[in-house]
Amino acid sequence: MQGFSKTRYRLTHSPRVRTDDVLRNLSDLDTQLGIEAQVSRQLGFVAIDVPREDREFVRYQPQAVPDKNGFWVLIGYEQFTREPIWVNLADSTSPHILDAGVSGGGKTNKNASILQNIFDNYSVDDCEIWIIDTKNDELLTTCQSHPMVTRYLTDPDRAVDAFCQLEKIMIDRQKNRQDKHIFVLVEECADFTSKQGRFYKDSYVVLDAILRKGRSAKIHMMMSTQYPKNEVLPREMTSNMPVKVCHRVVYKQNSMTVLDMDYDASKFKGKGDGVVLLPEKGLVEFQAALLDGFRFEPCHEPQVQTNPTSEPAEPQAQSAPRQSEPAEPELEEWDGNGDIPPSWARFIVRCVQSKLNKKQTLEESIGLKKGGSPKYQKASDLYDLIKETIL
Ligand SMILES: Nc1ncnc2c1ncn2[C@@H]1O[C@H](COP(=O)(O)OP(=O)(O)OP(=O)(O)O)[C@@H](O)[C@H]1O
Ligand SMILES: [Mg+2]
Repeated sequence: MQGFSKTRYRLTHSPRVRTDDVLRNLSDLDTQLGIEAQVSRQLGFVAIDVPREDREFVRYQPQAVPDKNGFWVLIGYEQFTREPIWVNLADSTSPHILDAGVSGGGKTNKNASILQNIFDNYSVDDCEIWIIDTKNDELLTTCQSHPMVTRYLTDPDRAVDAFCQLEKIMIDRQKNRQDKHIFVLVEECADFTSKQGRFYKDSYVVLDAILRKGRSAKIHMMMSTQYPKNEVLPREMTSNMPVKVCHRVVYKQNSMTVLDMDYDASKFKGKGDGVVLLPEKGLVEFQAALLDGFRFEPCHEPQVQTNPTSEPAEPQAQSAPRQSEPAEPELEEWDGNGDIPPSWARFIVRCVQSKLNKKQTLEESIGLKKGGSPKYQKASDLYDLIKETIL
């Protein structure tokens, strides 16, 4: 069986032989064969996995969500079946995701393809995205002008403030239900979760509360880290992130910390391979899709692709330049009185985006309130605010 990065040989043994004995006998197979081989117990057979020298990658392509209900994120493609792996964040069993792996493991690239897939399948009325990236990764920077990305923060102090605001939104949403999801990507959570970290004291209690109670308020966290150690990932927090993604790690112990089970992710090669622990399916090995750059045009009919291309294809003409000018939105009729209609608010947001100081969030700059389609202020107020703060 040919996977993206390895070939799997199935060994079906006689029912009279115990699987434990087979596994024990095969335990030094790699030494005997002089190749890297992993032996594992699978349902109904013993698997011998040998890394492929001609490893395959998969380029990101639009992928339709499995179901209109729910809020789906695409993790990657299953190592052997090549089926897409989805997580429904709206499901009570999988509201938040933990994500870990060494530098170069492929976390940011996977996170970017998750974001692109959300852009492709959902609208600003369905979802709002907050990105906390203290590493200021170049790939993610380019998505901050997408209208769905309402917060893009690189300064940890401001991120702590944002977590506090998020908690307030959560409390408010528990009283006033909202349809819109908030997806919060924290690119390096060690800054906030590590007991030795400077921001731990201020963020721990808030993050813990969001992880415990965010689901019912449609708030979903995805927390990534390069440092999967017990000091960095307090158990109280990880236990509330039921979906766990683990890319290549340095030591087996690191993957055991992430997955909370006996698993060795140091065998992965990096560049987007990994394993995801899904509450209903257990461990699933995958290859994340490679995203070259964000594409902002709405993709109303995403292509369904069950067997992604093996070799990353040449970039297609329409695949987006990293930074594209926001398209002119359609504006609904408005005589300038009363509340600002959503299309106008979004239009203004896009117009002023280019003038923003990166450290300032858009909403702070123009005084739009957070949460959902912007809560609008009177046009004249907004105009004055824009003039004062940006122009
Ligand atoms: N799915 C993928 N397919 C092919 N190549 C990939 C994939 N993901 C990542 N890579 C390659 O690996 C490099 C590092 O990936 P990425 O930046 O996502 O790692 P990371 O885990 O975020 O690292 P760090 O912890 O340093 O931020 C990328 O620049 C890309 O060249
Ligand atoms: Mg990264």
